[in-house]
Amino acid sequence: MLKIIRYTSLVLSVLLLAAGGYLWWQRGSIDPQSVLGGMSVPPGMTLGGPFELMDQNGRSVTDRDFRGRFMLIFFGFTHCPDVCPTELQVVAEVLQQLGPRADRVAPIFITVDPARDTPAVLADYVALFDSRLVGLTGTEAQIAAVARAYRVFYAKVTPPGASTYLVDHSSFLYLMGPDGGFRALFRHGTPPEEIFRAIAAGLGAA
Ligand code: NI
Repeated sequence: MLKIIRYTSLVLSVLLLAAGGYLWWQRGSIDPQSVLGGMSVPPGMTLGGPFELMDQNGRSVTDRDFRGRFMLIFFGFTHCPDVCPTELQVVAEVLQQLGPRADRVAPIFITVDPARDTPAVLADYVALFDSRLVGLTGTEAQIAAVARAYRVFYAKVTPPGASTYLVDHSSFLYLMGPDGGFRALFRHGTPPEEIFRAIAAGLGAA
């Protein structure tokens, strides 16, 4: 009898944990109706969330400062040899295609290497691509938090024989809506036209 009670309470605990986990997972989950293009995202997944960081001018900024505009967000680091420069070039091309409508889009580069990417380093770097690009850095903890919210992977690696480290990082481009909610996810290498079309569709509907 005792065994049955123990077993029942164990099953109940597991069920409660599962239900709690499911509800937590569903919190702010993506509404498929609002997705504008790019890769599909598993149902129930959440992407994005609040952040508190510092821009390339040393000003403290939060996600709320961008409400009312779309955010086009890329995570990377200024010492990146290949992926980051090509992706930021794509972002610059998208802005150009948007013309005056680019006013309603905040292009944002968030570093995953805050130790080296100070506001001053970011200011020089983002200016190479487009003067409208916002560079964001923060403490290790702030960067870890925003990376977690966007499910960004990053890890320091030192190639054999190299004197300095690189940072392996996932390289998706995120389109977030004027309400801060997720709108689209683009793989590295997505043509600028496809990203432009998704943003234009969102601007038309907003
Ligand atoms: Ni990179």
